[in-house]
Amino acid sequence: MKKTTNQALVIFGASGDLTYRKLIPAVFDLYMNDSLPEGYAVLGVARSLFTDHQFRKKMREGISLFAHYKDAPADKMDDFLSRLFYLSIDTGKGEEYVHVKEKLDALNKKLDLGQNYIFYLSTPPSLYCTISKYLYGQGLTLQQRGFRRIIIEKPFGHDLASAIELNKQLLIFFQEDQIYRIDHYLGKETVQNLMVTRFANGIYEPLWNRNYIQHVEITAAESMGVEDRGGYYDHSGALRDMIQNHLLQVASLVAMEPPNKITAEEIRYEKLKVFRSLRPFSKEDLRENVIRGQYTDATVRGKQYNGYRDEKNVDPASRTETYVAMKVYIDNWRWQGVPFYIRTGKRLPTNVTEVVIHFNPSPMKLFKPADGSTIPDNQLIIRIQPDEGILLKTGMKVPGNGYEVKPVNMDFHYSELNDDYIPSAYERLILDCMNGDNMLYMSNEAVEATWKFVQPILDYWENDKDAPLHGYPSGTWGPDVADNLIEGEENTWRYPCKNLAEDGVYCEL
Ligand code: BG6
Repeated sequence: MKKTTNQALVIFGASGDLTYRKLIPAVFDLYMNDSLPEGYAVLGVARSLFTDHQFRKKMREGISLFAHYKDAPADKMDDFLSRLFYLSIDTGKGEEYVHVKEKLDALNKKLDLGQNYIFYLSTPPSLYCTISKYLYGQGLTLQQRGFRRIIIEKPFGHDLASAIELNKQLLIFFQEDQIYRIDHYLGKETVQNLMVTRFANGIYEPLWNRNYIQHVEITAAESMGVEDRGGYYDHSGALRDMIQNHLLQVASLVAMEPPNKITAEEIRYEKLKVFRSLRPFSKEDLRENVIRGQYTDATVRGKQYNGYRDEKNVDPASRTETYVAMKVYIDNWRWQGVPFYIRTGKRLPTNVTEVVIHFNPSPMKLFKPADGSTIPDNQLIIRIQPDEGILLKTGMKVPGNGYEVKPVNMDFHYSELNDDYIPSAYERLILDCMNGDNMLYMSNEAVEATWKFVQPILDYWENDKDAPLHGYPSGTWGPDVADNLIEGEENTWRYPCKNLAEDGVYCEL
């Protein structure tokens, strides 16, 4: 594997959960995979008062819980931890940033970092511009000596106007190619495999269009509720939390045209074309083709679950959606008339994210199952998580007299690749940023185009008091009305289970 150049990762918000659970474990896995350069340091910055020693102790704990190589030998762990440093400042005060500069200068001398810095803002979004401004004030965003990059986490704005404003502000302090907007879905191996499935195989691409595909389903179901994130979630909701970013990104990979080359520029361009082709929702669509729901309390297999409104830090009269299902069209040559059904929700029966491509049925029904039912359409299921893999559903002759047909599965599971190490999304994305590759990061144009698409929904829900919010009992597949979205009498949502090859059966919450 290509070695990265010497550099430092500066994490703002280093005392938080993301650093502990995801970032440092991911960087440790990079270390174990020999992907870190000789000269490397992590500088954690936050308000909490930690010494280097205390910071390292806490990170050791995070690594031993969440890293892939959690059982690494002690000497490896110690060597890695010796590269972690901590600085306590009040990130809201400009005058304190001189300490960031001094600390980085000192680390540079000690570890030969080449003055290459990645600033990772694992902070509330309200601090993105403040931190950028003060880094700029210290000359830390200018790339005269080494490279300077910034990684920011979603949400990138709260709506279209604030996203445009955020981009505008960031571009005062950084150039667009220095800004890495992370969407952890794009770091998932299986999400990247969507492109490979489509463009590395001759058999799919000829079928991948309106002539052969009847509809597409994209589901991200979660069995958990909002847990301890009620404060954030109640101001966000499922549309902002999952659809504007993760699921539209997945949809763009399903729908994009083949890029000319596998480069950041080409792929981001093709994806952007999809976002710009999303058919804007008319008033009627907003009423009929977008369903929102909120989970209510229920007892599932003897266990009692709170309704959303009873969750911690949630307004007891909240109208925030924990479920969204929508019918979307992509107005371009390839996809004209093909509905994309997208749904996500919390407290659904199981944890599953997948894409289902439903192919057109055969033109004549020559064969019938013995029970008189109809043969289901061919489906290609690309499972993003769990039981990652691919499943093709086809009809096969039941051995014996006559021509009875039954559906069978042809499935591949990533777990069959015994020796292959699957990097975590953060590991992959941090490594890409270290190498200056922003292919799997979001461009400002993509962020704005996706907000533009969802903005009419936000406006409708906010301004129209009659816009329905459907309750659904915890542990169910969301409001019943979502079933009406799917066109065609014989078509329904796929009701997936934990195991890729199973569906339609009851899954435990
Ligand atoms: C996050 C959302 O971006 O993605 C969470 O804020 C959600 O609400 C999570 O649970 C889902 O990610 P994953 O990787 O578990 O599918």
